Amino acid sequence: MKKNIGAQLALYPSPVVVIGAMVNNKPTWTLVAHLGTMAHSSVMISLSQAHYINKGIIENKKLSVNVVDESWLKKADLMGVKSGNKIDKSECFSYVIGENGAPIIENAKLSIECDVIDNYELDHFDNFICKILATYADESILNNNGKINYHVFKPALFEFPTYEYFVLGEKIGNCAKMN
Ligand SMILES: Cc1cc2nc3c(=O)[nH]c(=O)nc-3n(C[C@H](O)[C@H](O)[C@H](O)COP(=O)(O)O)c2cc1C
Repeated sequence: MKKNIGAQLALYPSPVVVIGAMVNNKPTWTLVAHLGTMAHSSVMISLSQAHYINKGIIENKKLSVNVVDESWLKKADLMGVKSGNKIDKSECFSYVIGENGAPIIENAKLSIECDVIDNYELDHFDNFICKILATYADESILNNNGKINYHVFKPALFEFPTYEYFVLGEKIGNCAKMN
């Protein structure tokens, strides 16, 4: 029998990403696990209004979503425990400015550049609605058809209740071909 354990956040594991944005003309980086896909064009990034990075996102309306994998998880994790309100994170990563003006982490194998088109404020969180403008993928993670190969690229996954990171497990089926 299922037990009601209350109104809980339970949609885990979720990919972890480092959001990049410019604040006072310098890049800053924040770790985020609460994000989602909207329609086929956009993503939502949920950021506490107390965070440093929000100011730059609101001012410039641009951000990058850098998908974390194990190769740089340790550094990414630091972006989740240190705030730009306390330390300058602008030199934490080598970066380039994307075609649309957002700072992109060079070592991330997958980065998505977005324009912020709306903000749904809820419970002291900015929930930024972000239109995808460009997706930058390292050639090493692309298959012969130019698509991201998730057998090769393994995003780090996060789980809130125990604060642990995981990695994608084995394939269990072919979608829409199981019957
Ligand atoms: C694994 C992990 C996931 C996180 N996910 C979120 C998130 O989805 N939204 C959020 O507002 N903060 C999240 N945080 C907390 C921020 O990353 C953290 O408070 C950060 O220091 C804020 O940086 P800033 O003030 O420089 O923007 C997460 C932290 C960790 C460790």
